Amino acid sequence: MAQDRGLQRLDKLIAAQTSLSRRQVHQLLSRGQVTVNGQAVRRFDAKADPDTDQVALSGQPLALKRYSYLMLHKPQGVVCATQDRALPTVLDLVPEPLRRSGLFPAGRLDKDTTGFVLITNDGEFAHRILSPRSHVPKVYTAWLDKPADGQVVQAFAAGMQIGADRCLPARLELVEPGGRVARVTLREGMYHQIKRMFGAFGIGVQALHREQIGGLKLDPALPAGKCRELDREELEKILRE
Ligand code: URA
Repeated sequence: MAQDRGLQRLDKLIAAQTSLSRRQVHQLLSRGQVTVNGQAVRRFDAKADPDTDQVALSGQPLALKRYSYLMLHKPQGVVCATQDRALPTVLDLVPEPLRRSGLFPAGRLDKDTTGFVLITNDGEFAHRILSPRSHVPKVYTAWLDKPADGQVVQAFAAGMQIGADRCLPARLELVEPGGRVARVTLREGMYHQIKRMFGAFGIGVQALHREQIGGLKLDPALPAGKCRELDREELEKILRE
């Protein structure tokens, strides 16, 4: 998604996007088994442009990509971090063929929140979807222990004060007539924001699920705990509402 073009170290690129270690890549390089646009490359510090150069290993073309964008259906009990001493992280759920260096979750869901997490190694794209200035909406379903009513809807829409934090206006739709299932649309992501917003009215959030980021919904065919790559069209949808 990021538009910058440029060269990157070939050994790093190959190691990050295959199951080979950097040392194994060096062995292939010294044996002349790595080609760039059909030419054998032997130098360990050789560079290539993952967007335009054709790289092959022992004659097998590699589809190198600078950036990766994954949709994860986060289950409960997993933390949105790159590492944790005690608990599994969202990165532990990325299967081997999709693993590469530099991946991180673009935004945090609480440990008990489920739903759509975007995992990428593109810091600029992550910033675009996370910055409140970009106004990319994130849509959640919240299951409440008490009904919310029109007063809560209005307070969310006006922009609430929660502790020291001032929230941007948020949209609250009562999905069930009883007011105990609600759809919340935020354009920012403060710590425990939705729980704190409902908490200001004495309403507890029993479960929270992120349905959508920008114009892209969590794929209903993606089971909890699984992730898959996003295509260009889906990425563009994230930035469109
Ligand atoms: N708001 C919360 O309270 N928790 C989340 O995980 C996301 C938004």
